[in-house]
Amino acid sequence: MRVLGIESSCDETAAALVTETGEVLADVIASQIATHSPYGGIVPELASRAHMKAVIPVIRRALDKVPGGLSGVDAIAVTQGPGLVGSLLVGVQVAKALAWSLDKPLVGVNHLDGHLFAVYLQRPDQPARQTPSMPYVGLLVSGGHTALYRVQAFDDIALLAQTRDDAAGEAFDKAAKLLGLGYPGGPIIDKLAAKGEAGSVAFPMPMASRKTLDFSFSGLKTALARHVQTCGVPANEAELADLCASFQGVIVESLVRKSLLACEQEGLDRLVITGGVAANRGLRARAKEACDARGIQVFVPPPISCTDNAAMIAIAAAHRLAAGERDELSFAVYSRDPDRKRGKFRRDGTLVERKPNAR
Ligand code: KG4
Ligand code: ZN
Repeated sequence: MRVLGIESSCDETAAALVTETGEVLADVIASQIATHSPYGGIVPELASRAHMKAVIPVIRRALDKVPGGLSGVDAIAVTQGPGLVGSLLVGVQVAKALAWSLDKPLVGVNHLDGHLFAVYLQRPDQPARQTPSMPYVGLLVSGGHTALYRVQAFDDIALLAQTRDDAAGEAFDKAAKLLGLGYPGGPIIDKLAAKGEAGSVAFPMPMASRKTLDFSFSGLKTALARHVQTCGVPANEAELADLCASFQGVIVESLVRKSLLACEQEGLDRLVITGGVAANRGLRARAKEACDARGIQVFVPPPISCTDNAAMIAIAAAHRLAAGERDELSFAVYSRDPDRKRGKFRRDGTLVERKPNAR
């Protein structure tokens, strides 16, 4: 089966063709970084308009890469949420129009599922990757989310913990803005941090207690702001690199510690790290080192699969499509993973009321 995946939840317009076993046949991404970087963050209205321009050319480019093109598409998967509503609508409406006109099944995919299952993608330009069997602990660390999950099966994902405030990617982006480095901040800080010494500037470790799996990054952001207020932005590159390495080091340490604690608490020895921040070289190296020392197998997709892409949306839908499922073409989008929890929106987009004492 060949699944056409479409992703437009944030600032990337993406289309991909993927088989149900995760083989990536085509993967095209149009980034909006140049549009948003003057503002130091994503401007939703501009994002929707850029998706409108890019979505058809991007899908066409993906289809052109595969013999058979559109006629070889068996099913369509599209990001339903969470994300920016105006952006989501663009991908969803195109996906519905295609599914209707081709009379092919369509399913709406939770973007976070896409990140969690990106680990099953096999890309032709890369050596075959070992993939984890389920269950595993999933650390999803991106611009909008930082959370730990127990991934039991494709349709059985339990939230273990999440950030109480900022996501890790958001912390990177805000830090870079504060330091006048540009957008998105993660890759810029990653690059600078590689040349610096972590720990040369002392920052507090957030949520250091072993009693909680929760994350928190807004205090760290404030600590950086205070440091800059007192000492200014470092004038030379070596000091800037040290500052970035110290800031990144705390985020990485926090992410790794809580992931290991989750593995311990869940009795699992498989960890998947995914989402845009999983592209971070410091995180990849530290996670590998810490997991090796504890006999935990760690799986981190290649950076192209970690940041937003449509191949992950296609693979996350493949099990449902292979089982013959399809969504009604009337389904709605959702802006948040409900209350930052799983499973609160029905597939048709209607809200399932929160129970009074639910976590
Ligand atoms: O998953 P993603 O592409 O989009 C969301 O779903 O949010 O993640 C984007 C986030 C941004 O905050 C970006 O700064 C961060 O991932 N990011 C990185 C790196 N590459 C992207 N953070 C740290 N190091 C990187 N190399
Ligand atoms: Zn994402």
